[in-house]
Amino acid sequence: MTNGIQAPRGTKDLFGPEFDRFEALERLASGVARTWGYAGIRTPVFEDTGLFVRSIGEATDIVEKEMFTVPPREDKGDDKSYTLRPENTAGVVRAYLEHNLHKTQGLARFFYIGPQFRRERPQAGRLRQFHQMGAEVLGLLREAKGDQPAAPYTAYADVILMAAEILSRAGLKGLKLRYNSVGCAKPGCRDGYREKLKAALSAGKEKLCGDCQRRIDRNVFRVLDCKKPNCREVSAAVLANVPQEFCAECRAQMDFVSPTVKELLPAGVEAAHDQFLVRGLDYYTGTVFEFTAEGLGSQDAVGGGGSYDGLIEEMGGPKLGATGFALGLERVLMSQEAAKAASPEAPAAGALVYVAAAVDSPEPYKLAVRLRQAGIRTDFDLSAPARGVGNHLKRASKLGARLAVIVGEDELKAGEATVKDMAGGEQRRIKAADALAEVKKTLG
Ligand code: HAM
Repeated sequence: MTNGIQAPRGTKDLFGPEFDRFEALERLASGVARTWGYAGIRTPVFEDTGLFVRSIGEATDIVEKEMFTVPPREDKGDDKSYTLRPENTAGVVRAYLEHNLHKTQGLARFFYIGPQFRRERPQAGRLRQFHQMGAEVLGLLREAKGDQPAAPYTAYADVILMAAEILSRAGLKGLKLRYNSVGCAKPGCRDGYREKLKAALSAGKEKLCGDCQRRIDRNVFRVLDCKKPNCREVSAAVLANVPQEFCAECRAQMDFVSPTVKELLPAGVEAAHDQFLVRGLDYYTGTVFEFTAEGLGSQDAVGGGGSYDGLIEEMGGPKLGATGFALGLERVLMSQEAAKAASPEAPAAGALVYVAAAVDSPEPYKLAVRLRQAGIRTDFDLSAPARGVGNHLKRASKLGARLAVIVGEDELKAGEATVKDMAGGEQRRIKAADALAEVKKTLG
C-alpha cells in the first residue's frame, strides 16, 4: 500500500536475484577495467547545467528535451541551475581539469559505474534513471610537442576492446560492433562533409520527415540516424553519392582502429563500418562506435563511445585528446538474461605485468591485449608510440609490476619478446607467440 505513490515512471526498484545479477555485472565490469590498468572515479550525480549544455551540445535531444534540471533558488542565495547527469563523460573531464590531473598525471585512465538520468519516454530498455559503466582515457597529445611525439592510436582501440571484453564475458549473444568517423573540427574536415551532406539532403528534402527537415540546418548528421523508412532511403542514396572526406588524422585513426580492433576482438563479436552511425552527443571527433546485442528489441545499443579530442580544450584545458565508452547496465542485463547466460566471475586482481613498447609498432599493444583477455592484469603506456627500455622499466617498477614484457626493434624482427622479472632482475628472450604461456607459468 503506497497511498497511490509509486516509483517514478522509468525508474526501477532493484532487489532479490536481480540485485545479485546487477552486482555481479558491476564486479565484472570493474574487474575487467582494473585488469586493463584503469583506476576508478566517482563524480557527483548533479553538476552545473552549463557543463552539459557546453559538452553534450545545445542542439542535441539530451540537452533540448531530456534533462532533469533544478532551477536556481535565488531566494536561498543559490543562483545556479543544476542538472542530474545524463551521462558521465562531461563530469569526468571537469574533474580531470579541476584537479589538475593533466599536469600531475598527464594521461589519465578512469572507469566509473553509476546512475544517469534522462527524461526520455520510457519503454523496454529505455529508463529515466539507468546505470552506466564507462571508461575514459584523457590527455592524449594529438600533435608532437618539442621532443614529445604525438600519442599513437592505441587508446582509441583500447576503449573499444575493453568494452567488447566486458560484453563478451557477460555472455551476450549476437554482439555487433559498428564504427564510423564523424570527422573533426579542423577546417575542411567535418565542416566540408557537413556542407556536402546538407546540399545533397536538401535536394531530397520533401521526402524527409518534419524532424529531419529541421535537422538539415540544426544538426544534419542526425538525419542519418533517423529510422523512418523514407528518411533512411534518402540518406542511403545520399551516402552512396557523398563520400566521407575527412582529414588525414581522422582517416588514420579509423585505419588503425579498424584492422587492429578487428584482429583483437573477442571471438563471436562481428565488426562493420557503418556510415549511418552518428552519436547523440556533439563532443565526438574522429572515430565513434556502438555495440548492439540480441534480446533487446528496438533499444538494442548496449554501449557506445568514441573519441572527443576537442572537449578538454573547449572546457578551458590544454589541447589534449580523449576517448571513451559507456555501457548501459540494464540493457546488458536484459541481453544477458535473454541469452540465458549465468553471471560470470570477475577476473581476479592478480600480479601486474607491464608490456613495454620500445619500438613503434602495433605488436606490443596486441600482446598486452592478449594478456588482458586471458585475465592477466596488464599495464600498457598509451601516451607515446615507443619509449626507451630504461624509461619503461622505471614506470613498471613505480607501478609495482611483477614482470615486464619488452618488445624492441630486435625482438620485433625476431618475432620474440624479452621477459624480465622486476624483483630479481633476470631476463630471458622468448617467442612472442609463447608470451601468454610464459607469463602464466611465471606468475604461477
Ligand atoms: P550514450 O550512447 O548516450 O553514450 O549512452 C551509452 C549507453 O547507455 C547506451 O548505449 C545505452 O546502453 C545506455 N543508455 C543510454 N540512455 C539510456 C536510457 N534512457 N535507458 C537505458 N539505457 C540507456 C554516452 O553516454 C557517452 N557518455 C559514452 C562515452 C563515454 N563516450 C565517450 N566516453
